[in-house]
Amino acid sequence: MNSIKKTDNFVFQTYLRQGKAFVKGEGVFLWDEDGKKYTDFLAGIAVVSLGHCHPKITEAINQQASTLVHVSNLFYTIPQADLASKLCEKSFSDRVFFTNSGAEANEAAIKLSRRYFQKKGEKNRYKIITMEQSFHGRTMATLTATGQDKIKEGFSPLLEGFSHVPFNDIDALKSEIDETVCAIMLEPVQGEGGIIPADPDYLLAVRKLCNDKGILLIFDEIQCGMGRCGTLFAHELYNITPDIMTIAKALGNGFPIGAMLSTKDAATGFDYGSHATTFGGTPLATAAALEVVNIISKEKFLDRVRQMGQYFKNQLEKLKEKHTRVVDVRGKGLLLGLELDKNAGPLVVELFEKGFIVNGIQDKILRFAPPLIIEEKEIDRLIKGLNSLL
Ligand SMILES: Cc1ncc(COP(=O)(O)O)c(C=O)c1O
Repeated sequence: MNSIKKTDNFVFQTYLRQGKAFVKGEGVFLWDEDGKKYTDFLAGIAVVSLGHCHPKITEAINQQASTLVHVSNLFYTIPQADLASKLCEKSFSDRVFFTNSGAEANEAAIKLSRRYFQKKGEKNRYKIITMEQSFHGRTMATLTATGQDKIKEGFSPLLEGFSHVPFNDIDALKSEIDETVCAIMLEPVQGEGGIIPADPDYLLAVRKLCNDKGILLIFDEIQCGMGRCGTLFAHELYNITPDIMTIAKALGNGFPIGAMLSTKDAATGFDYGSHATTFGGTPLATAAALEVVNIISKEKFLDRVRQMGQYFKNQLEKLKEKHTRVVDVRGKGLLLGLELDKNAGPLVVELFEKGFIVNGIQDKILRFAPPLIIEEKEIDRLIKGLNSLL
C-alpha cells in the first residue's frame, strides 16, 4: 500500500489533501516522492518562515536533542528561560506562557482574561468579543471564539460568553460593550478570514475603547506575527500594543510551539496551579524557537521581508490591471491575498500541477504566505504561471 492509500485508509478524513507525499524540503522548495520539485508559497500555512530545514534551526534541534529534551515545568531549563526573556525584550510583554499550538495559546489567553477579573472579584465579567470572519482555533473555546459558522457546525452546545461583531467597525464594537465584557480578541491581520488587515484608525480606537472601559485587548498574531507582515509582530505596524498576545506557527519554524505573552498586570490573572501543559516550553521546542527569534528579529531580515512583500504585492497589482478575474489584492508584508471573481479551487490545482504551492481560502481568495526568504526570481516565476492561467 502506498502512502496515499495508507493515509486515506488509516488517518481521520478531516483534511482534503493534494498531490503526492512530500519527502524532502530545502529553503523555499519541496520535493514529492516522484522527485518533482515545487516552490512553496504557503510555508505550511505561515509556519516554515525561514524555509524548509534551515541549517541553523536543524543544528539547534540536533544539538538540544542530544543534550536535554524534556524535564517538565516542575523544573527550570536554560532554553525556556532564554526564549522567554528574549520574547519580552523584543515585545511589549513582561511574561510568557508556553504552549504547543496556536489554539492552546488562545485557550490560555481566554482563561487568563476571565480569571484576571474573577480574581479581582468581578465574577460577572467574562464575555469575550471577537470579530466576524476571525479564526482562533479548533478547541471548544477557540472555535466558539472563531467568527465563522462553518467551523462551529455540529459542535453545540458551544461555550457561553462569546459574541462576534463585524471587523473594522468601531460602532458595532462599541454597541456590544457592557459591564460583562472582559476582553476583545482580534487578529491585526485576519488570515483564514481572507487576508484582511485592520484599519489603522480602527485599531487605535479599539485600544482607546479598551483603556476607557478597563477591558483587556488580546491580539492573535498566530498567523500574522513573527515577521510575516514585515515587523516582528504585526501590531508594530499600528503603533499600539495589546495586553495579551498569542503566537505559534512560525515561532518554531515547524517545530510545534506556541506562546501567550502578556503585560505584568494581565499576568496577575494566573497563579501557581491555575494553568499548565505538560509539553509547554520544553528545552527542545524552546531551543529551536530561540534560534528562530534570533534570526527573524534582526532588522535586516525584517527589512527584506518588507521589500519582498512590496515587490510581490506590486506584481499581483499588475495582474489585477491585466485580468478582470482579479477583484482585489491585499495584505501586509508576505501575507498576501488575491481575490478572484469566482472559486479559486481550480486555480490552486492548476498551480500545483505547475509546481507552485498556494492555497485557497474563503472560496475565492488565493493566499500567499511563502517562506520569508523568498526571492524575486521565484515570485516572478509564480506571477508568470498565474498570468498564463488567468
Ligand atoms: C490566527 C490564528 N489563530 C489560531 C490558529 C490556530 O492555531 P493552531 O492550528 O496551531 O492550533 C490559527 C491557525 O491557522 C490562526 O491562523
